[in-house]
Amino acid sequence: MRVRVNTARGRKSSSTRWLDRQLNDPYVHEAQKKGYRSRAAFKLLQLDEKYKILRVGQKVVDLGAAPGGWTQVAVDRVRPDGKKSRVVAVDLQEMEPVGAAAILCMDFTDDAAAEQLNELLGGAADLVLSDMAAPVTGHKLTDHLRTTALCELAHAFAVGSLAPGGTLVMKTFAGGAQGELMAAIKVDFEKVRTVKPAASRAESPETYIVATGFRGDL
Ligand SMILES: C[S@@+](CC[C@H](N)C(=O)[O-])C[C@H]1O[C@@H](n2cnc3c(N)ncnc32)[C@H](O)[C@@H]1O
Repeated sequence: MRVRVNTARGRKSSSTRWLDRQLNDPYVHEAQKKGYRSRAAFKLLQLDEKYKILRVGQKVVDLGAAPGGWTQVAVDRVRPDGKKSRVVAVDLQEMEPVGAAAILCMDFTDDAAAEQLNELLGGAADLVLSDMAAPVTGHKLTDHLRTTALCELAHAFAVGSLAPGGTLVMKTFAGGAQGELMAAIKVDFEKVRTVKPAASRAESPETYIVATGFRGDL
């Protein structure tokens, strides 16, 4: 049943819209029911259902991981033993532990981030996930360019860390620079698709790139 949110004195209309969306979003309710920290978990579950990207025993990196929904899904599927299989997560924000995942609280754009992530991985990655998004300003072009810059870094990290045959999944914001990003990714992967999972809100500019078959050193 739809919950009606009335405007309240002192509450901005953007906050009322947010509250309305949260209260009436089936994925928010489902996430609460299933113990996921974010509704975003369903986006990864849906991508995995379609492309079978997560497997037991993999080494996985989760970029922009907080509050941890994707990390929860990755840990459930990969069952990291901390040796051969590992899940390594990074975010600017502090994050509660998730099973055996190694969690790094730092800025991924920091020069030292890639090295620290690779050290925690202890070998080449099978899968690099990025749900990173720059803080939204509301100015479409600015948001697109900022998030694209994070995508370019995630792509460069994936090229330096993935084992041949590996997979890269990342969030992008639609806009003019997306074509160039896709073209760069196509050089390194055999198959590159753009996907909008059902859990991604229609009004959001986000789409996900699923790039499989990393070619390795060219
Ligand atoms: C949409 S949220 C990720 C949600 C997460 N996948 C989940 O399922 O809970 C995007 C995250 O990217 C992080 N982020 C943005 N820029 C970052 C950066 N430069 N370094 C690390 N994390 C970053 C934000 O702090 C935010 O937590």
